[in-house]
Amino acid sequence: MGSKALFFFALLSFSALSCLIKTSSASDNQNEQDPGLVMNFYKDSCPQAEDIIKEQVRLLYKRHKNTAFSWLRNIFHDCAVQSCDASLLLDSTRRSLSEKEMDRSFGMRNFRYIETIKEAVERECPGVVSCSDILVLSARDGIASLGGPYIPLKTGRRDGRRSRAEILEQYLPDHNESMSVVLDRFASMGIDTPGLVALLGSHSVGRTHCVKLVHRLYPEVDPALNPDHVEHMLYKCPDSIPDPKAVQYVRNDRGTPMILDNNYYRNILDNKGLLQVDHQLATDKRTKPYVKKMAKSQAYFFKEFSRAIKILSENNPLTGTKGEIRKQCNLVNKLH
Ligand code: HEM
Ligand SMILES: *[C@@H]1O[C@H](CO)[C@@H](O)[C@H](O)[C@H]1NC(C)=O
Repeated sequence: MGSKALFFFALLSFSALSCLIKTSSASDNQNEQDPGLVMNFYKDSCPQAEDIIKEQVRLLYKRHKNTAFSWLRNIFHDCAVQSCDASLLLDSTRRSLSEKEMDRSFGMRNFRYIETIKEAVERECPGVVSCSDILVLSARDGIASLGGPYIPLKTGRRDGRRSRAEILEQYLPDHNESMSVVLDRFASMGIDTPGLVALLGSHSVGRTHCVKLVHRLYPEVDPALNPDHVEHMLYKCPDSIPDPKAVQYVRNDRGTPMILDNNYYRNILDNKGLLQVDHQLATDKRTKPYVKKMAKSQAYFFKEFSRAIKILSENNPLTGTKGEIRKQCNLVNKLH
């Protein structure tokens, strides 16, 4: 070997070595950069973030109580569809349909107030706090506003860049889905039977529009329904094909419509469940024992509800350098 060749060989092996060193340190750095979800992720980058969100949720709740229902429904509709990545919040574009426009999202409301919360956070810490964390923390604070438990939740999620509308129906069950399918879908997120039973307790607040109910009233009344409740449902939904422009609906829990409590379980045991899934929850032999237990014990309901919300909120998040921090929750950032 000539001295020149030796020199090149040395150079080559040196650069190969430094390349090795580089890749190993790069992957170390990546682990440091991506702790995944943690408690109080923004403690250094935006220490006031969680307080700002809490305050905004409180102010909005004072003005419109139903915002809290929306924050609770959002966590299901975003996190159960593959990932808590705020894909739910994206508007339709020329190329893609918004998840919000799908039939499964029927009746979802108050999305503009998510922007109110986001704007308040952006004023303090621009470009730092993700919409997916705002969605999850607003659900946590909304649940507490409704008289539910306070559930400590991790943060550090980042926002997705595309709508998941085309696969929505594979993840979100329909109002009349069989209990086997419902149980399977929750199990695939790591949510067990008592967890599912507790989460459906969310139907202790809010409303259901007549379009989702009329098949249980017309052409004939579902014999499984409690006749006392049928009278009320027929009064609220007088047409077999509801006028799409008239906002006709039945409250999910007539007893305590504004409170997240275990009254839902007593209602469904009394055959007053509005949706077919609600009714099945109280009759299916796999779920009924938990329904009875939750009807008796609010503490047990809250314990299982808190556990399940935590699992739901940690479903397959984007963390580290994946995704982005959206500037506005209804739009992906422009790439330069
Ligand atoms: C099998 C699963 C589920 C089905 C089929 C289902 C279906 C529905 C339907 C059809 C409505 C009525 C929408 C309307 O007409 O306006 C509704 C409302 C609601 N759902 Fe669910 N849901 C399910 C699970 C959940 C879960 C897991 C949560 C929360 C963690 C949740 C939270 C809510 C809330 C809070 C409302 C009331 C919304 C409002 O009044 O604005 N649901 N759901
Ligand atoms: C569930 O209801 C929808 C209408 O909302 C209907 O098209 C569908 O056939 C029903 N599915 C079952 C399994 O009954």
